[in-house]
Amino acid sequence: MKENHMPKAGITRQEFLKRTALAGAAMLMTSLEGWALSTADKKIKVAVIGCGSVSNSYLPQLLSSEMIEVVSLCDIKYERAVAQNEQYKVGAKTYRNIDEVLAGVPFDMLVTLTDMQVHEELNKKALLAGKHVWSEKPLANSYKAGKALLDLANSKNLRLWGAPAVVNSPQFAYMNKALREGKLGMVSSAHGQYGHTGPHWSAFFYEKGGGSMPDLGVYNMTTLTGLLGPARSVMAMLSIVKPERTVDDKGTIKVEVEDNAHILLEHDNNVISHIMSGFNFFDPHGHVASDQMLHSIQIYGDQGNMRLLGYDWETNGVVMDTAETGSAQLVSTDKGGYQWQEGARVVAESMVTGIEPKINVEHALHVLEIIEAAHESHKQGKKIRLKSDFPFPVIR
Ligand SMILES: NC(=O)c1ccc[n+]([C@@H]2O[C@H](COP(=O)([O-])OP(=O)(O)OC[C@H]3O[C@@H](n4cnc5c(N)ncnc54)[C@H](O)[C@@H]3O)[C@@H](O)[C@H]2O)c1
Repeated sequence: MKENHMPKAGITRQEFLKRTALAGAAMLMTSLEGWALSTADKKIKVAVIGCGSVSNSYLPQLLSSEMIEVVSLCDIKYERAVAQNEQYKVGAKTYRNIDEVLAGVPFDMLVTLTDMQVHEELNKKALLAGKHVWSEKPLANSYKAGKALLDLANSKNLRLWGAPAVVNSPQFAYMNKALREGKLGMVSSAHGQYGHTGPHWSAFFYEKGGGSMPDLGVYNMTTLTGLLGPARSVMAMLSIVKPERTVDDKGTIKVEVEDNAHILLEHDNNVISHIMSGFNFFDPHGHVASDQMLHSIQIYGDQGNMRLLGYDWETNGVVMDTAETGSAQLVSTDKGGYQWQEGARVVAESMVTGIEPKINVEHALHVLEIIEAAHESHKQGKKIRLKSDFPFPVIR
C-alpha cells in the first residue's frame, strides 16, 4: 500500500518549502505531477510530539518511508522521548515541550500524538510557526476551534490533517464502489460499532474532552459518513456506566465524560445510520484486530446488504448478500498493505509527491462536529442540525 512515487528531480528543498507556503492547499488539490524535490534532499522533516502508546505504531510507519525524516521527538515525560529515540533508532533530537521543538532543529510537519485535550493548543502553535500538521483525533476540542485551525492553516498556505485513516483501506474502497454501482439497491440504514473495556494507561480518555466517541466512535463516524455522505443532523443518548476507573498514570479517577454512546445520524436521501461506542464492551479478542469476526459496519439496501468483517480500522473482508449473488459471500479480503497507523506517513508522502490523498481535513472536522452535536443532543434531548460538509464521495 505504501505509495512510493519518487519525486521528480529539479528544485531545491528551500524552493519546495517556499512553493508549499505560496501554493499550499490549492496546489496540492490540483497537482497530479508531484513535487519536484532535488534527489539529494528529498525528505520531508517531521517532528513527533507525544511518545506514548500510539507512537509505537506511528514511528515504524514514519521510519519506513524514504520520503520522511523524523528529526524531533518530544514528550512532557521527557524520558519517553529519549526511550523511543533509542528503541526505534530514530536518531532525532529530543525535547521536553512544544516551545523547545519549535525553537529546535528545523522541520516541516508536526505529528501530534499527545493526550486528546492538548491537540488543539499544540496544533495551533505549530501552524502559527509555519508548520504543516497531522493530528491524532480530535484535531481540536470543538468544531469551531477546529475550523479556526483550518482557516489559520489556509491563511498561511499550510496543510492540516486529522486521523483516522480508515478511508484508505481496500475494504472501504470496495464498499464505496459497491454503493456507487448500486449493488445494494436503495440504501436505507446502516450501523457501526466499536468498543472495548477501555484504556488503562492514561486518565485523559475519561476526562472532559475525552470519551468513547473521540477515541473509538470516531472511526465508525468517518467510515459511515465516508460511505453514505455527510450527516445533516444528529440525535444521541450518552451515559457513564462506570463512574470510577483505575488508570496507570493517576490511580483511581472519577469518569467525567461518556463511556457509552449511541448516536443516530441523518444523511441525505432519507438514509439513517446508527453508531454505538463504549468503554464497557467485552471483546474476546481484546485490542487484537486480526482475528476479529465482528461485523463492525453493516449497510442495508433493498437489493442487498453489506457487512464489514472486523474493525473498520483493521478489516478482514466484506460479507455481501445481494439479490444478484444470493447467499452471503466473503469478498475483499486482501488488506493491500493498509494499516490504520499509516495516516501521517501517507499525508507526509503526499506533500512530497503532490498526489492528494483520500484523507481530507474537512471530513475530520465534520466528524468533530458530529461528536459535539451528540453531546448537545444528549444535553437538550433533541435533534441537532449540522452545518459542516466535506467533499463526497471520498473516492470517485
Ligand atoms: N494508543 C492507541 O492504540 C491509539 C490508537 C489510535 C489513536 N490513538 C490516539 O493517540 C493519542 C494518544 O494516545 P496514547 O494512547 O498514545 O496516549 P498516551 O497517554 O500513551 O501518550 C500520550 C503522550 O503524550 C504526552 N503528552 C501529553 N501532553 C503533552 C504535551 N503538551 N506535550 C508533549 N507531550 C505531551 C504524554 O506524556 C504521553 O506520553 C490520542 O489522541 C488517542 O486517541 C491512540
